Amino acid sequence: MDKDDNGLEGVVAAHTVLSEVDGAAGRLVLRGHAVEDIAGRWRYEDVLALLWQDFFAPLPAASDLAQALGRARAEVATLLRADDRDVLADLPPVEAMRALLARLPDGDDLPTALRLVAAPVVFTAAVLRGKAGEAPVMPDAAAPHAADFLRMVSGRPATQAQAAALDAYLVTVADHGLNASTFAARVVASTGAGLASAVLAGLSALKGPLHGGAPGPVLDMLDAIGSADAAARWLEAALDRGERLMGFGHRIYRVRDPRADALKKALRELARVGGVEAGRVALAEAVERAALASLQARKPGRVLETNVEFYTALLLEAVGLPREAFTAVFAAGRVGGWVAHAREQVQRGRLIRPQSVYVGPAAEASPAGTSLP
Ligand code: ACO
Repeated sequence: MDKDDNGLEGVVAAHTVLSEVDGAAGRLVLRGHAVEDIAGRWRYEDVLALLWQDFFAPLPAASDLAQALGRARAEVATLLRADDRDVLADLPPVEAMRALLARLPDGDDLPTALRLVAAPVVFTAAVLRGKAGEAPVMPDAAAPHAADFLRMVSGRPATQAQAAALDAYLVTVADHGLNASTFAARVVASTGAGLASAVLAGLSALKGPLHGGAPGPVLDMLDAIGSADAAARWLEAALDRGERLMGFGHRIYRVRDPRADALKKALRELARVGGVEAGRVALAEAVERAALASLQARKPGRVLETNVEFYTALLLEAVGLPREAFTAVFAAGRVGGWVAHAREQVQRGRLIRPQSVYVGPAAEASPAGTSLP
């Protein structure tokens, strides 16, 4: 059978006002704003207000939206049950979140959308605390979203620098064209199934290692390498074994992923105030240099650059989030984009229904009817 090996590369499946991914120029624009101009300056709530405009009527001003999101966190926390700790403790956080998200009622309105954005942070924090044998910390509805997430995870208020770094991350990953999870969300939304179903589809697509599952393995790789001196040798051996280097390469970007630069900047900002272990940044930079040199030597015809996951790993580690939760934290950022795309699909699109080419055996003429093989 012929293999469909193009992965829909180059196929246009939607027109969107939400984000432009210019792979040739290495540029990501969110509704008229280059990602590097807003990451580190805007809070995640501000990006929701940007992405969701026109898709909910009426959409409150950004400050009111932030307060409504705080109330949604408190509401979602009431869906946690006393025995969740026992039932979910053995699951990776993203799998636990997949199970917990199913508790949210479906719908197409703003309250549904806000609960869906609130859920990943409330659930991830509760799951992480459950794994540590601790009770969940309840949301503070008046706190900013990123700061409240970190407080619910650790039980202590986050520093301003940590909250700002996490905000930079959530903003950076909020939307990214028609990536696999967003496409999945749009397909489900196009059937009229509702925002919660679309977000669940997005999450299911995100958790694969070729999409949102890479940042944890980036840290595993850094730990395995151990020191800057060992980087080149370790990476060459991994490539000799036919392995892929996590945090490098991208389907669309043919130059550097602009999100990697936005996150590297946020990480340096955190390091400036002592929020990152100095040796960790030095090791990461050495590994990045060695990896780019090895990949360029082995694949001269193809640009394999640092992608968003590489500095994501270091940033999320620095703000105190465990690597097993990284995919769930990615979902906490991308959910704003999934919701916006789902609304856009419903308002401006049609049922998504592509075609396949049949390459199986031809039907045989069988006058007496078909019998089972
Ligand atoms: N390490 C080593 N080799 C690589 C890497 C890598 N990270 N990425 C691509 N290559 C090689 C492939 O082996 C392939 O070589 P071949 O032509 O000899 O078979 C060639 O480069 C092209 O690779 P494709 O798989 O065709 O590239 P594609 O666009 O399909 O894949 C992907 C992109 C999946 C991101 C890939 O680069 C990869 O696996 N990277 C590592 C995982 C990762 O970092 N994922 C996060 C991506 S960012 C995000 O989703 C948010």
